[in-house]
Amino acid sequence: MTSESGSGAHRVRPLLRVRQVREFTDAPVDPDALGAIADAARWSGSSRNTQPWRFVVIRASEILRRLADAGQPQTRALETARAAVAIAVIREQGSAVSHAFDEGRAAERMLIAASLLDLGAGIAWIRSEARPLVAELLGLPDDRFVRTIIAIGHPTEAAREPKSARGQARLPREETVFSERYGRN
Ligand SMILES: Cc1cc2nc3c(=O)[nH]c(=O)nc-3n(C[C@H](O)[C@H](O)[C@H](O)COP(=O)(O)O)c2cc1C
Repeated sequence: MTSESGSGAHRVRPLLRVRQVREFTDAPVDPDALGAIADAARWSGSSRNTQPWRFVVIRASEILRRLADAGQPQTRALETARAAVAIAVIREQGSAVSHAFDEGRAAERMLIAASLLDLGAGIAWIRSEARPLVAELLGLPDDRFVRTIIAIGHPTEAAREPKSARGQARLPREETVFSERYGRN
């Protein structure tokens, strides 16, 4: 395996900068950027290409604040977000795990797209108790629910600061990446 400082590592570095942002400035988000983020999401691959998602792009500050209130503390990134994208997933017996996997792919793509556009984004997980209110706020049909909302905006200076000491944000490579056999470096 190549070292962490090789050219491969350098080229994937933009991905390593994709982190959870929970605090945003008042600067508005360009509608074109939001469209690009939604497109990145809808182009995600899904199991059997079922595309179990629909994406609700939210820009109204009143709705963003009410969504933030609906699911604290998980939704705290929505307090200051200037925009958000809610992932409305279809309810389907027997497909919960596969749909959650697909949803996660779309969510991560939105975080990556935001980062590539010099924006910040963060996941807000909607607990099951908060889902009926979120469904009402977003006008969801009965056969869909929202578990993930991506908060989007321009990160504050504080939000750009590392949240943990250098080298502490992830488990070390030798504890997480093995060669040929589990546990072997
Ligand atoms: C499935 C999932 C659910 C998450 N839910 C929330 C959440 O509800 N609220 C939140 O602020 N962060 C949430 N996060 C973000 C994680 O807390 C964050 O990715 C983790 O602490 C690592 O931080 P970093 O991405 O900035 O390195 C979630 C992340 C994942 C993958």
